[in-house]
Amino acid sequence: MIYTAIMGHGVVGSGVAEILLQHNALINEKIKDEICVKYILDLRDFDNLPYSDKFIKDFNVIAQDDDIKIVVEVMGGVNPAYDFVKRCLLSGKSVVTSNKELVAAKGAELLSIANEKNVNFLFEASVGGGIPILRPIAQCLGANEITEVKGILNGTTNYILNKMIVDNMDFDAALALAQEMGFAEKDPTADIGGHDACRKICILAALAFGKHVYPDQVSTKGITDITLTDVEYADSFDCAIKLIGSAKKLENGNITANVQPMLVSRSHILSDVDGVFNAIMVTGDAVGDVMFYGKGAGKMPTASAVVADVIDCAKHLNARKYIDWADGSSDYVVTPDEKVRLYVYIQSNDFDMLCKQFNDAFSDNTWHIKNDFKKEIAFITNQDYESALMKKINSIKCDELKVMHTLF
Ligand code: HSE
Repeated sequence: MIYTAIMGHGVVGSGVAEILLQHNALINEKIKDEICVKYILDLRDFDNLPYSDKFIKDFNVIAQDDDIKIVVEVMGGVNPAYDFVKRCLLSGKSVVTSNKELVAAKGAELLSIANEKNVNFLFEASVGGGIPILRPIAQCLGANEITEVKGILNGTTNYILNKMIVDNMDFDAALALAQEMGFAEKDPTADIGGHDACRKICILAALAFGKHVYPDQVSTKGITDITLTDVEYADSFDCAIKLIGSAKKLENGNITANVQPMLVSRSHILSDVDGVFNAIMVTGDAVGDVMFYGKGAGKMPTASAVVADVIDCAKHLNARKYIDWADGSSDYVVTPDEKVRLYVYIQSNDFDMLCKQFNDAFSDNTWHIKNDFKKEIAFITNQDYESALMKKINSIKCDELKVMHTLF
């Protein structure tokens, strides 16, 4: 018998409990043993569930029970999850979590404790919900030097942007609908501010490149200032606006990492990822590009990934899965001056002057649209070093300016 405990009975936690109980026979068959949920930790009362007898309110019951071999942490947030997970690992219990905030902040330290104690610390559900992505990077793509990871890592923002593109809804209406549909949280700051995607790219980069990336090292911009005007111009340039998280390995061993809304060309496969779906592209030197696509959020898809990790822990109680990365360092994530193509929107009440300045600064074949009536110009620059492009853009005096990166 392998005893487990679940910490947290929210959306994901209840899904984990349901799968572990409903698929018990199937899971037992896979692990050639019997799995039993002994405790569920939650401060709230759940009196009318078929497993109401398992609820406890004191973490120490789990920490002090030597029978518990696998603990599922699905409480979310760094505290008290960090303290609880650390104590579980230190007392020789394997831990499975879906908590990206915890892994992005403390992953290297918790993996190192797991290593020391010869137990597992697995977190497949922390990135991409139900999409298998961390195990494929660590195992199936293990023969590759991974050079880049990028993708649509947040379902809520992808849903909002999609509603703006397809249904012409403005940002506030699309956000309200996402909340009504249950995709966005009541407080959607982490999603729309790009912080959720930032935590996920930290985890992906750490796993892909072997060194911890801290959220504050990632240049992060959300979608709150995207307007229908941007969406329409993007469409005219045959692009869709997507929130893209990306991390790239540089030749000197450093990496770049950022989260930002980008104009993605309709000929790029990521432009077709709609609604709450996520897609993550991994580039390896031997395999080339591979893409992982699916539901990046939701009760059962996320619980599916959590329970798969529980099964893996149960199969490897005495044999550690080698998922590890080193501590981060302050000089590891850099922002080199690279060649890019930028989307630029400029508006001025002095439209003649705006046109003259634009023509002077971008006399080459820059792809542009001039709107005499709204006194605005939108353009996509030719490829050049970002610093050189920004110097030219900043030389234009205008009332409104917006610059976004592109993905062609
Ligand atoms: N809020 C996240 C999203 C959920 O919208 O993608 C899963 O991380």
